[in-house]
Amino acid sequence: MAPLLSSLGLILSSLEAISSLHAGFSNAVIEQVRSNLIAIASQSWELGTAAEALTELDWPALSVFNASAIPPPYELDAANNASDVLKIATSTVSAKPSDSLALVANDGAVGDPASIGVAVLLANWTDSSDISYASAASEQLDYLLNVAPRTDSGAISQRSDQVQLWADFIYMAPPFIAYYGALQGGDNGTSLLQTAFEQISLYRDVLRDDDGLWRHVALGSWEDSTHWATGNGWAAAGMLRVLETLDHSSVASDFAEQSASLAQWIQEIISTAWQYQAENGTLLNTIDDPTSFPDSSGTALLASVTYRMAVYSNDTSLIPYADKAFQVIGDSIDENGWLRNTVDPETFDTPSAASSASPEGQAFVLLLQAAYTEYAQSVASGQVIPTSNSTSSSGSSNGDDDDSNILRRCRLVHRK
Ligand SMILES: *[C@@H]1O[C@H](CO)[C@@H](O)[C@H](O)[C@H]1NC(C)=O
Ligand SMILES: *[C@@H]1O[C@H](CO)[C@@H](O)[C@H](O)[C@H]1NC(C)=O
Ligand SMILES: *[C@@H]1O[C@H](CO)[C@@H](O)[C@H](O)[C@H]1NC(C)=O
Ligand SMILES: *[C@@H]1O[C@H](CO)[C@@H](O)[C@H](O)[C@H]1NC(C)=O
Ligand SMILES: *[C@@H]1O[C@H](CO)[C@@H](O)[C@H](O)[C@H]1NC(C)=O
Ligand SMILES: *[C@@H]1O[C@H](CO)[C@@H](O)[C@H](O)[C@H]1NC(C)=O
Ligand SMILES: *[C@@H]1O[C@H](CO)[C@@H](O)[C@H](O)[C@H]1NC(C)=O
Repeated sequence: MAPLLSSLGLILSSLEAISSLHAGFSNAVIEQVRSNLIAIASQSWELGTAAEALTELDWPALSVFNASAIPPPYELDAANNASDVLKIATSTVSAKPSDSLALVANDGAVGDPASIGVAVLLANWTDSSDISYASAASEQLDYLLNVAPRTDSGAISQRSDQVQLWADFIYMAPPFIAYYGALQGGDNGTSLLQTAFEQISLYRDVLRDDDGLWRHVALGSWEDSTHWATGNGWAAAGMLRVLETLDHSSVASDFAEQSASLAQWIQEIISTAWQYQAENGTLLNTIDDPTSFPDSSGTALLASVTYRMAVYSNDTSLIPYADKAFQVIGDSIDENGWLRNTVDPETFDTPSAASSASPEGQAFVLLLQAAYTEYAQSVASGQVIPTSNSTSSSGSSNGDDDDSNILRRCRLVHRK
């Protein structure tokens, strides 16, 4: 009797879990968001972020979240061609002057051009006929490691003209350094993986506050000590990409300790941030300043990290917050596929003007959809079992996830 009851309980909780899933954003919405992103992404960090978002959403087998993504195939199938990602790599490398080590010349930011480096490494790996990608990637690495200014502790500056650390750097440079190392293999590859981890650790030493949130900018001629939502998103999402790269590299077992640290450092950001979530699911631009304005960009990025971390750690306790965030992001995408209520990505502290959109915000919607898709697949396959609380979240819009619906699905299963 007991085993039967407990397996019935398991079936019930799995059904409850599956019934709590929503469908994600529709293909039509995602298509508009994607084409708007491609139309307006122009700055180095926007292009790097766009390339990553397109990889995760459209070519997930090639993203570091897939256990068999490293290394990629030497030749891409017609159906898995990563064409939009490789286009960003190709146009960047062909525009790069030969006297620039960085992928984008005279950018001012150290890390931002490197964000395109992951796509350039993918282009190199899958197109042996063109050596310009390999040299562009290795020059970019050389610039980061050997030319850019550093703090006394060794943290690579985010600015080229002074030593200044920005939370944004974590999404821009360490994922490239780690991917480079994972592809390179051998002792040099291992040492790059370690470098990616150490840079994160050095940044965290400077930017993290006691509650786990990160300040935006420290050192140099000016500082931004606020807990910027997008900055915390850059830090958490960048750490997550490095974590996945370490875990899916051939030397994952040597990095177990670093991986555990990264998972904890990501978790402390998201678990603190969601404590400040507004009633309708949004985060404020300065997470813990109630006088700040709502920001859908940072909300989307942190929600994407939250879905990914639930799969990574099999801990769904923050999913109700992510589901609420998902709902408000859906409500913030207008009928033409533009994410509204974003922070102006150039000022950091004012809302975007009514006439302008945030390229990074558009990319964060795609990252959110990709993360949610992986989460939903993990729940559907029984790999992750959500706490029953997620059922009551606002993620599914038509409100038919009540007990009678669960029972109805139960009966369907019993009939099989
Ligand atoms: C990872 O990619 C491989 C192809 O390289 C694919 O067969 C597999 O289904 C992917 N795994 C997941 C979890 O998507
Ligand atoms: C790349 O793949 C997409 C989706 O599978 C397909 O629509 C497109 O035609 C492909 N492009 C090329 C150049 O093969
Ligand atoms: C470029 O790709 C080739 C495989 O096609 C690989 O052997 C080489 O190490 C790659 N270079 C870099 C810098 O990743
Ligand atoms: C490893 O790095 C060193 C120093 O940069 C270099 O001289 C050596 O050729 C590299 N080894 C391999 C196998 O790439
Ligand atoms: C689940 O719901 C209960 C009651 O509403 C609440 O106290 C608890 O914090 C919720 N847990 C999560 C993980 O949201
Ligand atoms: C969410 O609530 C905030 C107030 O906390 C409000 O300013 C914002 O417009 C709301 N967002 C949406 C999409 O309704
Ligand atoms: C995740 O947690 C659930 C519930 O605690 C458990 O049944 C399941 O086996 C776990 N999955 C993994 C992959 O650890």
